[in-house]
Amino acid sequence: MPEETPSPRRVLVTGGAGFIGSHTVDQLLAQGDEVLVVDSLATGKIENLDSASAFSSFRFEQLDVARSDAFCRTTEAFRPHAIIHLAALVSVQESIQNPALNFERNVLATQSVIDAAQRCQVENVVFASSAAIYGDNPDLPLKESAEKRPLSPYGGAKLASEALLLAAANTYHFTVTANRYFNVYGPRQDPKSPYSGVMSIFLDRFTQGIAPTVFGDGAQTRDFINVQDVARMNVLAASSTLPGFHAFNVCTGKATSLLDIIDVLREHFPNVPETTFKEARAGDIIHSLGSPESARGKLGFRAQVSLNEGLAHYLQTTTSVTSQLP
Ligand SMILES: NC(=O)c1ccc[n+]([C@@H]2O[C@H](COP(=O)([O-])OP(=O)(O)OC[C@H]3O[C@@H](n4cnc5c(N)ncnc54)[C@H](O)[C@@H]3O)[C@@H](O)[C@H]2O)c1
Repeated sequence: MPEETPSPRRVLVTGGAGFIGSHTVDQLLAQGDEVLVVDSLATGKIENLDSASAFSSFRFEQLDVARSDAFCRTTEAFRPHAIIHLAALVSVQESIQNPALNFERNVLATQSVIDAAQRCQVENVVFASSAAIYGDNPDLPLKESAEKRPLSPYGGAKLASEALLLAAANTYHFTVTANRYFNVYGPRQDPKSPYSGVMSIFLDRFTQGIAPTVFGDGAQTRDFINVQDVARMNVLAASSTLPGFHAFNVCTGKATSLLDIIDVLREHFPNVPETTFKEARAGDIIHSLGSPESARGKLGFRAQVSLNEGLAHYLQTTTSVTSQLP
């Protein structure tokens, strides 16, 4: 099935000032959509929306999505065709330390989006789910039907949100797409945050000339997907005409080890000292890999950015940002 370019629509993006959200917003604006970002700026940055701000079709509102009444009023005023719900507490560690906050930001906020979508007859809801719902399921590559074994309140909340959205799609008859992202990387990912992906941490160290640290032997693998591809899947899903609820892995289907990433980075930074190896951390998942077949077959989505291309572009952006620092 080919990817189609949809006609201009109004799209509300929660969490649009974040890493994945801001790339999604850029792509929506580029295809001519009108975009309202609702973000509390809990972890997002207004600078991520610098290029979006140049569009007259772009608006921003600072608001906590979990404040249901206020969020409903905002949605009513904008009357979106689609809501892309990315706002969340994204730290697995923080969800373990503060499960109540995790519940508020990752479950109540989803309910608030459902309430607004129902009240305003929104046609289409896209939800940022996660491969964390599969936990340590070893049945690789993971299909969408694989057993769900979340290992943290974060994974549990994503699964609970999917259940709420499934019921809402059946009850109120709107289209819901739950995008289960695997390991997303790319520009605007914050390496300083305690929950940031390994890719941005390695990149940060290499650009500073510091040896990377690997927990375990480095043979552990992940399914890394570039943020441009993830944003494209969000945009595609926002105009999906599949009726009811659908969940898709958003992944490449390719396993990349930590040593593979270090090899690529070493080509760019040959003088960085040798990798430091530390004891594997208890609970770390050794291998994670998704099956991209369903998204390909039903939505025509295929990841297009190779790891080499994605890393080279990420490096370019990071080094140009670093060189502008005082
Ligand atoms: N980055 C990944 O590899 C990855 C993997 C799987 C799933 N996800 C999911 O993708 C989504 C986006 O993640 P990200 O990596 O861009 O993180 P991010 O922290 O950069 O973005 C999250 C955004 O949500 C905002 N936010 C948080 N709580 C809010 C609230 N109650 N109301 C309004 N805004 C709120 C934050 O300020 C931030 O701008 C999240 O739902 C996350 O769980 C990310």
